[in-house]
Amino acid sequence: MRKLLGQVVLIATLFGTVLWGGGCSKSGPEAGGATAKPDAAPPKYTIGMSQCNLGEPWRVQMNEDIRKAAEPHPEIRVIFKDAQNDTLKQRSQIEEFVSSKVNLIIISPKEAQPLTEPVARAMDAGIPVIVLDRRLLGDRYTCFIGADNKKIGKAAGQWIVKKLGGKGKVVELMGLMTSTPGQDRHTGFREGIAGSDIQVIFEADMKWLEPDARKEMESALSRFDHIDLVYAHNDPGAHGAYLAAQAAGREKEMAFVGIDALPQEGVAYVKQGILSATFQYPTGGAEAIENALRVLKGEAVPKEIVLGTRLYDQSNIDQGGAPLP
Ligand code: FRU
Repeated sequence: MRKLLGQVVLIATLFGTVLWGGGCSKSGPEAGGATAKPDAAPPKYTIGMSQCNLGEPWRVQMNEDIRKAAEPHPEIRVIFKDAQNDTLKQRSQIEEFVSSKVNLIIISPKEAQPLTEPVARAMDAGIPVIVLDRRLLGDRYTCFIGADNKKIGKAAGQWIVKKLGGKGKVVELMGLMTSTPGQDRHTGFREGIAGSDIQVIFEADMKWLEPDARKEMESALSRFDHIDLVYAHNDPGAHGAYLAAQAAGREKEMAFVGIDALPQEGVAYVKQGILSATFQYPTGGAEAIENALRVLKGEAVPKEIVLGTRLYDQSNIDQGGAPLP
């Protein structure tokens, strides 16, 4: 009897989370994706999606891409959880998904090291895991989907060398350096500028966050009376740096380069002349659902799926950017 009651509570909880988006608003990308229609057959599979931080536009877009891709598939429902940029919270979300026996987990992890073990434990429990955008350590997951951050960083470095005619003073505002895109966008960039006379005069970890980037840029501006360019690991970071320079009356002195290229964010900034360039970082949301469906049907999927990228700058913005070779 108690077991039966427990199962009823579990089903009710799961169902509630789907319909009410884990206690958040009822609509929007943070709410449950493939919400079951009342008269439709109940979905066969439950997918748990743990998003590291919904406070950033790029991640809102990722959830929206997942929701849209899941919508035409009544056999799946997606439970979205937002870890609110808190690694411990994200760890417990994975543990909750395991104890509620979801059929598959999608995770876009905040940091590599602390989330590696809970994902490995989900795999041990027989739950396949698709890792999106930021990597984990080792190979205890089903499939990784993301763009090549080293390649993007290197292309940004080479673009900057060209833009500055081979020499100049650059500020690098880095993404969270305990996350793999931050590490790769940094090493790729350094490779891209190697052999040139570009000097990185200031570097700081702005943790992917616009307010942090703005603060770090204020320090750079107060320490250096001339800066040629700011390379930020994402568009919110580049925009934060721009706002700091603008507040100091110095935004025309330098150029700003970012990464992500959301239409309403980075691409719009290039159109407005705020950024000189941005590199697209696709969310992989649609590919995550596509491959989740394959896994759920028992089909094999590649261990690694590398997404392409595009460059947007003044030379190509009106043509919709250009793919990186
Ligand atoms: C959002 C974000 C993006 C960035 C990605 C890297 O949290 O910072 O701006 O491209 O994460 O994982």
